[in-house]
Amino acid sequence: MPASVWPAIDGIAYGGDYNPEQWPREVWRDDVRLMREAGVNLVSVGIFSWALIETSEGVFDFAWLDEIIGLLHENGIAVDLGTPTASPPAWFFAAHPDARAVNRDGVVMGFGSRGMASHSAPAYRDAAVRIAATLAERYADHPGVVMWHVHNEYGVPVGEDYSAHSQRAWRIWLQEKYGSLEALNAAWGTAFWGQHYGQWEHVGVPAAAPSVVNPAQRLDFARFTDSQLRACFVAERDAIRRFSSLPVTTNFMANQHHGCDLWAWAREVDIVSDDHYLWAADTEGEIGLSIAADLSRSVGGGAPWILMEHSTSAVNWQPRNVAKRPGEMARNSLAHLGRGADGILFFQWRAGRSGAEKFHSAMLPHAGADSRVFREVVDLGAKLDRLGEVRGARVQADVAILWDFESFWAQDLEWRPSEDVSHDERIRAFYERLWRDNITVDFALPGHDLSGYRLVIAPAQYLLRQADADNLNRYVENGGTLVVSFFSAVVDENDAVHPGGFGAPLEPALGVRIEEHLPLRAGDTTSISFGGDELRADVWHEHLVLTDAEARATYVDGPGAGMPAVTRKRHGRGTGWYISTRPDAAGLAAILTEVYADAGLVPLDAPAGLEVVRRAGETDDFVVVINHATTDARLALDGVDLVTGRTVAGTLEVCAGDVAVVRAPRTAPGSGR
Ligand code: GLA
Repeated sequence: MPASVWPAIDGIAYGGDYNPEQWPREVWRDDVRLMREAGVNLVSVGIFSWALIETSEGVFDFAWLDEIIGLLHENGIAVDLGTPTASPPAWFFAAHPDARAVNRDGVVMGFGSRGMASHSAPAYRDAAVRIAATLAERYADHPGVVMWHVHNEYGVPVGEDYSAHSQRAWRIWLQEKYGSLEALNAAWGTAFWGQHYGQWEHVGVPAAAPSVVNPAQRLDFARFTDSQLRACFVAERDAIRRFSSLPVTTNFMANQHHGCDLWAWAREVDIVSDDHYLWAADTEGEIGLSIAADLSRSVGGGAPWILMEHSTSAVNWQPRNVAKRPGEMARNSLAHLGRGADGILFFQWRAGRSGAEKFHSAMLPHAGADSRVFREVVDLGAKLDRLGEVRGARVQADVAILWDFESFWAQDLEWRPSEDVSHDERIRAFYERLWRDNITVDFALPGHDLSGYRLVIAPAQYLLRQADADNLNRYVENGGTLVVSFFSAVVDENDAVHPGGFGAPLEPALGVRIEEHLPLRAGDTTSISFGGDELRADVWHEHLVLTDAEARATYVDGPGAGMPAVTRKRHGRGTGWYISTRPDAAGLAAILTEVYADAGLVPLDAPAGLEVVRRAGETDDFVVVINHATTDARLALDGVDLVTGRTVAGTLEVCAGDVAVVRAPRTAPGSGR
């Protein structure tokens, strides 16, 4: 991905999805006037407009699109032009009924909603490439268009497809992957339950079946689905590139949809962009937000990225759509910016009167411009306008948490030892502690070069390839500190248990053998003794055998009673920790305090609720400070608050719920960032 590719916009990009086709012409003038008032400089247009651009197969109407792009351009608002392929028109499905996607239960997806056709249907691929190329040819040189927004959230709502087209493509994909049926039979372990295949024609998609379907087959189907979706993106992107050299993106859903392997996707886009929505039931949604932002940055190798969608207030698709409180939208936006976003956009500009999303908030709500939300939108635009110099500054992290979509796909299949074990929950627990300590985190794959990190945490690496385990062992040997949580390194790339047993590939770094998993009953809690303290733990115990590690904690009660629960091994120049249970938050904090000491990490001295992230610019740092608490807070800092223009001499004061972005002298890496 070329690091310098960025749309031609001054400063931080600000705006949202704009759907002018839902409104009469007179509203457009009002929209543009209010966008200017709010400081909007980028809008995404055309994402769901296929039926109104290509009115029947091969027949195009560009009049309205020309007009709105022209109007926006005259007013200094750039366009991120969508390819509308996430919602093919009625005429497409009428002409190609076989291109409809089919779900796992064999239900053919109907029209009247949104969602792409079968990712493997040739008619869909052709039509998608045609509309993308036609748009690119027409608007490539339009001065108002600055980037391309291909599709919308690949994999949602249609990911896995069980249609006849998918079936055909799946066999070809398998033939390319395995070369021979013998190799496929071996990888899938088809000797089990008599699933051996003698002919390629007999290999089917893993549709609903009488009992659990072969997990290796399903894991491959997840890989196949991801690769088909990516092929759709690449086909559109390449069609665009025939005519245009503008940056091309597609909006990810970082930690809110696991169907796409974003590490692979990020290599295909010019700019990473992400959609993030708070989960209202989570009273600390800002932590999930930070995970999404750090992941968006990490998959793009640290390059600045665009927050393509978030909400000004409530969404409309959760059980209880809680409105954001005053100031929350700005805190959310600045938190993304602090973690590397150089564009802050929303779904959507103007709340739609009709359709499924009429209860979704917008920059311009149903209540109009004389509203709290719009006033906050204007205020945020003014804030971002003062932050242009932050653009391009890089976030640096001393800690990496492993995040591996492929492992999630495998772990999420049926018949695992306990339904209480969740990768999302484990990652959040470890991340949350680091977040509260203001220790910035990157996400990484186990095969990445991890040598730049003081600490690597594997909260949920269920699937671990031997080569990646070797990488982790080497990381420790060369001086790194590694923490591995339970139910990791269990299986290989085919969801087969590692030879030598659970966890065996990491035995060099951890010095333990896992003899047996000992999951607990729902609601059971137990204790482990750690130093002089008793820590609470639940969900999981293990029968651990130490081969070359010290027991740092022991099970007090429960099925593991008397056995080691948490271990540490000095390996080479580094340290490998293993946590074989689920400690509660206080317990995890206690363990991580020792881990920090091994890794030479120091939590930032800041009051609770103060989120602090540092971006390193060319000569200065930019310290983004967000006060999530209901009390005012202070932080030791020198510099200039770019939001208020005030000099900060020694102490920054941040009122309850407020934000600050301080241009501060450069801090050496590793000094408490
Ligand atoms: C997603 C979609 C948008 C819209 C929002 C609503 O992110 O990309 O089109 O549906 O959700 O929250």
